[in-house]
Amino acid sequence: MTTTVSPIADLEAPLKFAYWVPNVSGGLVVSTIEQRTSWDFDYNKKLARIAERSGFEYALTQTRYAASYGADKQHEATSFSLALLGATERLKVISAVHPGMWHPGVLAKFIITADHISGGRSAVNIVSGWLKDEFTKFGLPWLEHDARYDRTQEFIDILRGLWTETGFSYSGDYYDIDEFTLNPPPLDIPGRAHPEVFFGGNSTAAQFAAGKTADWYFSNGRSLEGFQENIAGVVKSAAAGRRAPNPPKFGLNGFVIARDTEAEATETLREIIAKAHRPAVEGFAEAVKEAGQSTRDGKGMWEDSTFEDMVQYNDGFRSKLIGTPEQIAERIIEFKKIGVNLMLTCYLHFQEEVEAFGRDVLPIVRELEADLARRNGTELNTDLLPSTDLEGALA
Ligand SMILES: Cc1cc2nc3c(=O)[nH]c(=O)nc-3n(C[C@H](O)[C@H](O)[C@H](O)COP(=O)(O)O)c2cc1C
Repeated sequence: MTTTVSPIADLEAPLKFAYWVPNVSGGLVVSTIEQRTSWDFDYNKKLARIAERSGFEYALTQTRYAASYGADKQHEATSFSLALLGATERLKVISAVHPGMWHPGVLAKFIITADHISGGRSAVNIVSGWLKDEFTKFGLPWLEHDARYDRTQEFIDILRGLWTETGFSYSGDYYDIDEFTLNPPPLDIPGRAHPEVFFGGNSTAAQFAAGKTADWYFSNGRSLEGFQENIAGVVKSAAAGRRAPNPPKFGLNGFVIARDTEAEATETLREIIAKAHRPAVEGFAEAVKEAGQSTRDGKGMWEDSTFEDMVQYNDGFRSKLIGTPEQIAERIIEFKKIGVNLMLTCYLHFQEEVEAFGRDVLPIVRELEADLARRNGTELNTDLLPSTDLEGALA
């Protein structure tokens, strides 16, 4: 592997790891293959505890109101996240939220309460949305693609303002706030200005909005070259944005299949795809035309995803975290070199595979990260590593 180290790569900070909360039915692949993953709360409570003991710092809960990609049952994201925070001690839980479904003041207030309940572990992932039916069938306006991101920028500016200022006022195209003070404010925690704001999107408009407003930019699964393009777009917009000169940190989705041999891992991928739930994948492919394909430059999420890619509905196979633990760890380091700060992961059998990832893959990642730092004249800051308790993970 020969990827050069990007100037924005942070070699001192250990990579962070997150997992997708399976709060919708059907797991994270649209396939009839056997999956020992469940969307119910008891399963997720146990999974969250396994994850925090296995070295995961974040969990990401999806927001979905209506069936798509075969997920015909869904739990609401903010309430589910709050319950997971109550069931864990260190895990930070990021709740996905659509601006079009919430008033930013109501969300700001909700997250402050969650922040106090959880000791500062509540975060949001602001997603601009693509499932048109969820909005139109609720009788809500459906904005065209780039306007959704204009609204998202205002939404995030208001969250930040209400979390950090008293007597906050705002006048925009979508919202007006008149001298509002939220009391109590979020907890005062060293190293963060307010609860973290993640942002999910791939298109040019998404990169532009994230660069200006977000703390974290999340992308669907991508190749190394593909994600380098996204990073460049976000960094460029950050330079002229309200958070300049700091660009957001970068998180990338990947579906992990770690097996003893590469052949076994590849065979599992083949079986997932061979058993794809074809009508559900095809219905999803039709609905997502509201995303990347509806943009002016045709660039964005799922713009060129194949049928096979869409079997993991966030393009997670494209990041190629498939093989032996060593191969996966090496691949993750290649992403670190281009500027990735966090890997967002998903699995076939979540509880078992999150635990196995912490046991088999993470120690190799940590060794390789330390080597990479040394070879580039610096040290990996091991004080920043999350504590783990692998013995207790599956207890
Ligand atoms: C990591 C990640 C998580 C996302 N989570 C959700 C979600 O929970 N619900 C949702 O409706 N959209 C979600 N999205 C989709 C985005 O909001 C957006 O609709 C999508 O990126 C398509 O837009 P684009 O073409 O502008 O990239 C997510 C995107 C990413 C990258």
